Amino acid sequence: MKDMKYLIILLPIFLFAKFATNDSCKSCHPAIYDEFQNARHSHSSIFKDPIHKKMWELSPSYKQKKYTCGKCHTPTDEKLLASLDYNQTIMPDSNATAQSDGVACSYCHRIKSIENNETMNINIISKKEHIYYGNLKDALDNPFHKSTTNKRFQNGNVCIGCHSHYRNKYGTNICSTNQHNELDSANCVSCHMPKVDGSPSNLKKRKKHAFHGFAGIHNDIGMLSRHVSIEILRGIDRFFIAINNLSPHALSLHPMRVMELQVSVVRDKNITNFKPKQFVRVLGTKGHSTTPWEAKEVIKNTSIKGNEKRVSTYMFKLKKGDIVNVKVGYYLLSKKLSKKLGLDNIDKLNRFILLKQKVFIIKPNSFEPLQQ
Ligand code: HEC
Ligand code: HEC
Ligand code: HEC
Ligand code: HEC
Ligand code: HEC
Repeated sequence: MKDMKYLIILLPIFLFAKFATNDSCKSCHPAIYDEFQNARHSHSSIFKDPIHKKMWELSPSYKQKKYTCGKCHTPTDEKLLASLDYNQTIMPDSNATAQSDGVACSYCHRIKSIENNETMNINIISKKEHIYYGNLKDALDNPFHKSTTNKRFQNGNVCIGCHSHYRNKYGTNICSTNQHNELDSANCVSCHMPKVDGSPSNLKKRKKHAFHGFAGIHNDIGMLSRHVSIEILRGIDRFFIAINNLSPHALSLHPMRVMELQVSVVRDKNITNFKPKQFVRVLGTKGHSTTPWEAKEVIKNTSIKGNEKRVSTYMFKLKKGDIVNVKVGYYLLSKKLSKKLGLDNIDKLNRFILLKQKVFIIKPNSFEPLQQ
């Protein structure tokens, strides 16, 4: 009888889809596999992402001994995800391949469609283990899997199952700004997976493949810099700096991020540093910031919206020969949060990450207009 009970508990786990591991793609897709090692999608577990681990330990799911984050952070850990459905308490296992695989190759490539849902969207995973969706024309047959396509891959937004929104128990949207599905038609792939040199497989030679390092704030941010432009306008007794967001989403999607504009003027070897301006989206309750899980509202939102041009004013009279140095970038998390999580001693998590820099040399009497 005892054995039967054990069997009933385990059975649902084995009914779930089996996912091929990232390693099984390596021999035929070496270039993509190598790029992927640097992508956040392969660093999304608590074992590889210290910020994620610390935030999880603060969350209600940790107190209930559950890893609800796994739905998006380690979606091929079937055992762990099944345990959530059956209200069991299984904690992430550092030896599980699905944990180190993160947002695995086979997971993304089996997303058949995406269902809209109030709390978070749901990825519908194809039951066919060895048919992968993609966007290649005339994909070559191979002994390991078949290839096909679907609308999400064709539109370049198979991403919004996980990247769209995530509401807490009070209905506050924690993770992004896609409140009205305005990103549904955005082609994420065009900016985050641009075409780079090298064949996508070693069985058929093509010139280019989609970049699988997934350019973001953590890595390869330089690939994104052309989607933001910086302009200057000179007034009589002041000047203006405009940040022009050419992307469809807000600059800094994650509530932890702090975007910063740094401006300095060099005149005759003297440097004037202006106070940095920060752009943030702070969650909280009754005007005070809280953990994302306790937040009832957005208490402050100065982040630059999709396709917005934001102008900042500097009370400083520019003259011929002045050099204005402008930097736009990010901190992964605020100083306060970093301290609270005990991560303030890890340099790479606290440094300023440069998205774009521009240097303007002021000409005589030039009042450069803002380009509209
Ligand atoms: C609906 C899918 C989803 C769920 C569920 C989810 N996350 Fe995330 N998480 C994401 C996405 C997508 C990103 C990347 C967002 C970005 O960078 O804008 C992310 C990023 C993060 C980051 C930033 C990591 C870094 O190093 O910069 C933290 C921290 C985090 N999540 C914590 C959690 C915790 C804790 C849980 C569970 C209690 C959780 N998430 C559940 C989708 C999810
Ligand atoms: C035996 C070699 C082999 C293995 C192993 C392999 N692939 Fe492929 N795959 C190919 C070849 C060949 C193509 C076609 C490439 C082309 O036409 O340029 C391909 C194409 C693809 C495509 C594009 C499909 C399309 O229609 O756009 C995807 C996605 C893909 N593979 C994913 C994977 C994933 C994920 C894994 C590991 C779980 C994997 N492959 C393992 C050989 C392999
Ligand atoms: C299964 C859920 C899932 C899907 C599908 C998904 N992502 Fe992610 N993505 C995540 C998670 C979780 C993270 C955060 C990992 C971490 O840092 O801990 C992330 C991180 C990122 C980052 C890094 C952000 C940063 O701060 O550096 C980028 C860029 C990104 N995703 C783009 C995409 C794109 C483009 C697609 C679609 C082609 C996509 N993602 C599909 C879950 C997903
Ligand atoms: C976050 C989702 C995601 C993950 C994870 C992911 N891919 Fe992809 N992959 C895509 C998308 C989207 C495309 C289509 C790109 C396009 O339309 O240009 C793609 C395209 C491909 C292609 C076709 C080649 C091309 O240039 O279009 C192959 C092969 C492939 N992926 C293999 C892999 C392998 C192997 C891994 C793991 C090492 C992996 N993918 C991980 C989303 C993903
Ligand atoms: C026109 C180009 C463009 C398109 C299209 C685009 N992005 Fe971005 N994305 C950017 C730029 C630029 C940044 C860097 C600045 C920032 O973080 O906002 C960025 C940053 C991100 C980040 C990191 C944010 C953070 O706070 O960690 C994620 C995640 C992301 N994009 C996901 C997506 C998804 C999902 C889509 C499709 C729905 C998408 N992007 C479409 C340009 C684009």
